Amino acid sequence: MNQRQHFEQLYQSSPDPWAVQTAWYERRKRQVLLGSLPREQYRYGFEPGCGNGETTMALLERCDQLVAADFAESAVLLCNARIQREDRRQLHLQKLQLPQEWPDVPPGGFDLVVVSELAYYLDDEDLAVFSERCLTSLAPGGHWLMCHWRHKAPDLLQNAETVHAQIGASAALQTVVDHRETDFLLEVWERL
Ligand SMILES: C[S@@+](CC[C@H](N)C(=O)[O-])C[C@H]1O[C@@H](n2cnc3c(N)ncnc32)[C@H](O)[C@@H]1O
Repeated sequence: MNQRQHFEQLYQSSPDPWAVQTAWYERRKRQVLLGSLPREQYRYGFEPGCGNGETTMALLERCDQLVAADFAESAVLLCNARIQREDRRQLHLQKLQLPQEWPDVPPGGFDLVVVSELAYYLDDEDLAVFSERCLTSLAPGGHWLMCHWRHKAPDLLQNAETVHAQIGASAALQTVVDHRETDFLLEVWERL
């Protein structure tokens, strides 16, 4: 079974496989994530690996336009169902196998990229391509947020520390937020 089929199966067995809608850990983490975004409002946001749309819904309040993508068909359908009809004009939801498939980048780039609990599912090669594409899709002065759980799970191909250290080492980025706690890492970088 490949990674996409694995996630598809998870969404088939539950519409909320990580209890992002109900678990206090997930609800609190989302508040930390939203509170860590340096600007109140962004023009063009990109949320790769949007899952069932819980963070997507909150990001719509902070972005004029938001591109959200996931490779699991069920996740895209759940995300679409989660978003209020009136917010759908702002949302460009796509089924994409990242990083091989990538959304159109707005003129000048996204000014926000939010990668929540995604990058550690990528193998070394895909992670390198994904990171490069996130960076080149980001406008100068734009913010790139990454948030990852710090513990082990059988389907994780990377650990949070390695992934964050790799991104943070880029000379094109400056750290704006560095939040570390027992269970997750959350960092925001600004593109120079
Ligand atoms: C743990 S969930 C996180 C969902 C959401 N970002 C959050 O924090 O609640 C990971 C999501 O990433 C998606 N995903 C994993 N690898 C992907 C890839 N290569 N391309 C697109 N989506 C991917 C999965 O289908 C799943 O919905």
